Amino acid sequence: MNIDDCINLDDLRKLAKRRLPKVIYDFLEGGCDDENGLDRNEDAFRRRPLMPRYMVDVVERDQTTTLFGQEYSAPFGIAPTGGIANYRWGGDLMLAAAAREANIPFVMSGAATASMEDLARVAPDHGWYQLYVAKDKAISHDMIRRAADLGLRALVVTCDVPVGGNRERNRRNGFGRPLKLSFASKLDALRRPLWFKDYLRHGISNLPNWAPYTTAGASAEDVATFVAQQTRASLTWEDIARFRELWPRHLVIKGIMRTDDALRAADAGVDGIIVSNHGARQLDRAPASIDVLPAIVDAVGDRMTVMLDSGIRRGSDVITALALGARFVFLGRSTLYGAVAGGQVGAAKAVSILRNEVDLVMGQIGISTLDQLGPDFVEWDPEALRRNHPR
Ligand SMILES: Cc1cc2nc3c(=O)[nH]c(=O)nc-3n(C[C@H](O)[C@H](O)[C@H](O)COP(=O)(O)O)c2cc1C
Repeated sequence: MNIDDCINLDDLRKLAKRRLPKVIYDFLEGGCDDENGLDRNEDAFRRRPLMPRYMVDVVERDQTTTLFGQEYSAPFGIAPTGGIANYRWGGDLMLAAAAREANIPFVMSGAATASMEDLARVAPDHGWYQLYVAKDKAISHDMIRRAADLGLRALVVTCDVPVGGNRERNRRNGFGRPLKLSFASKLDALRRPLWFKDYLRHGISNLPNWAPYTTAGASAEDVATFVAQQTRASLTWEDIARFRELWPRHLVIKGIMRTDDALRAADAGVDGIIVSNHGARQLDRAPASIDVLPAIVDAVGDRMTVMLDSGIRRGSDVITALALGARFVFLGRSTLYGAVAGGQVGAAKAVSILRNEVDLVMGQIGISTLDQLGPDFVEWDPEALRRNHPR
């Protein structure tokens, strides 16, 4: 199978799996603890049927979506994922370029293996930056200043990593940061020559956005240790207030799962939130984000932009999230699998597969634009549908 043969996102996952040694694939795919959250995220979508409406004209369908004043060609973007060069050398910018070409946003991770300066060069109108807050506040403030000066479109503050998730697959595989391969993993990597060639040629990846804050000439290993020490347990609402003052454009908090936190974010003048459980990689007992979405939209939907990620694998998942009130959604693993499997072309393939599926589902349920979506497509109540009948 190659990229052209992939007809859905799971095909891209399979292709990526073939390219990667187990230690890396498990890092991408894994959850935490017993990994119940992975199934919960996907099941929460699957158990919500969509209610088709027929005999409406859906010859022309348009999924263009305006978010924070910018028009995108789809209602989804690429979520931040860290350490990408470990899976595909150069992958951060391949994803950014695919996003630019497809006219969707790309969020660079706070643990990116490319610099925000490069992002601004590759995708000046589509690049967002995700901040992992440092204990040394001056570092975070300087990163915000850099991203602002570069014109990056939005700042996403991830709030759901006060401590690292308990990723048992990684511990069993001996995965560490920066990447070091055990003898067994090296043997396994020999069977993945495309990946291994990159590893031998480039070695381990750096975290260039953090490098300026370490001593000059620090090794990738030193930078990784520094970042690990800096990014734990220190984000509070006082920081959000300060970021609000410093950041001139749209400010987003990613990882909110509770209505009270959403209300607090609205009070803090945040422009948007991404309801997310980090793709089930942090708290295995966290609910599926789609399950908490309606209450959050109900509480703050008229005060800020509510977005969602975690578990989206199909166009029907995108439609479900929008019908329940999300303005926009993000993909973590799926676009990453595309990039691993086929670089920029593979990432573009992931985007086009999902766009096509969104388009087909729009036709199937009888809508021609996304603003026609509402809860009656997912949570139908016979009485409400009767009331819908125009007399
Ligand atoms: C390999 C990997 C790395 C990730 N790294 C980050 C990160 O650096 N920052 C962040 O905010 N979220 C990170 N996430 C979480 C994603 O942004 C997103 O919330 C999640 O992947 C969505 O779930 P999905 O993979 O089911 O689409 C990562 C996810 C994966 C799979």
